[in-house]
Amino acid sequence: MNTSDFKCKSTINFPNEGEITWESPSNIALIKYWGKKPVQIPTNPSISLTLNDCSTTTKLRFKRADSPKINLSLGGVENTSFLKKIHAFIDRIEPYCPFIKNYSLFIETENTFPHSSGIASSASGFSALALCIVSIEKDLMNYSDDFFFQKASFISRLGSGSACRSLYGPIAVWGNHSCYKNSNDEYAVPFYDAHEIFNNYQDTILIVDKGKKQVSSSVGHQLMNDHPFADSRFKQANQNIEKIKNILIEGNLPAFNELVEKEALSLHAMMMTSNPYFMLFKANTINIINKVWDKRNSSSLPMSITLDAGANVHLLYPEKYKNEITGFIREELIGYCENQQYICDKVGNGPLMKKEHYA
Ligand code: PMV
Repeated sequence: MNTSDFKCKSTINFPNEGEITWESPSNIALIKYWGKKPVQIPTNPSISLTLNDCSTTTKLRFKRADSPKINLSLGGVENTSFLKKIHAFIDRIEPYCPFIKNYSLFIETENTFPHSSGIASSASGFSALALCIVSIEKDLMNYSDDFFFQKASFISRLGSGSACRSLYGPIAVWGNHSCYKNSNDEYAVPFYDAHEIFNNYQDTILIVDKGKKQVSSSVGHQLMNDHPFADSRFKQANQNIEKIKNILIEGNLPAFNELVEKEALSLHAMMMTSNPYFMLFKANTINIINKVWDKRNSSSLPMSITLDAGANVHLLYPEKYKNEITGFIREELIGYCENQQYICDKVGNGPLMKKEHYA
């Protein structure tokens, strides 16, 4: 696929107004994307589990206008702080969806996870918005479902890199790697070959810190440009994504746990060794990790931790061990969580269209 294939070539016969609603999930990377080239091209491939419950529902109302405006509300409250990002996103996608600039946009968005729980909403948020926008052209342009999701993933990527993986459950790959058929840097592709144990794999997110991160992901990505360990990191990520393929196919949990944890710690090691260096770990991030490792050593429960660019810990484990592991969380881990807060999520199947209406 060439990126020019994603250009919507027509602006005629578009509706005067309409309304579309999509619900799109967040995702958690197993092999991490950290470092990018313009525009939103990853410096290494990544693979993630698509979540089920942590999601964003976005209703997009659009109306033809001579001087189009954008209005955004978050959880029912008008929001201006994200408007700049949305404007930049609309400018960036204009070559691919030129019709969008003819409309005033009213974006109403809601997250299922608590507001400011420290969980990034950019993956679910941008993928939900991209789905709404590409839906406007889908029927007019006669897109197949496959092409529709490819374009929605491509458009999501232009908002937030990791968002492009939220389009497909249970597992998605983004970034070119010869081991994964059709994988490429422009949009994510689904990975359906994993062992069935991963179809309902659990992810309990232990909220260590609800606050805003001191260093944003975009700054972190940029710091990989002249990072002293960048080359080795990109090489390691390429090797790891190759290794995890068979691990996922076989359902080899000891190997999965080891590799996933190595990746999470490598990601944070990059942050701690960049110039300037920074650390998103909090004391309780480390307390939780140590408790999980102690418990795993003494019980053989197959669980592993992973992290995104923040202090919260994702605890991953097979559904079969849910009772035992949630008991362990309640007894030994919630004391380390801010306001004892944690979110029980699991692997899901990707986005869901809720409503569509055009006039
Ligand atoms: O998509 P961004 O720019 O928010 O970057 C996400 C980076 C990580 O969450 C740390 C890793 C990943 O692959 O999701």
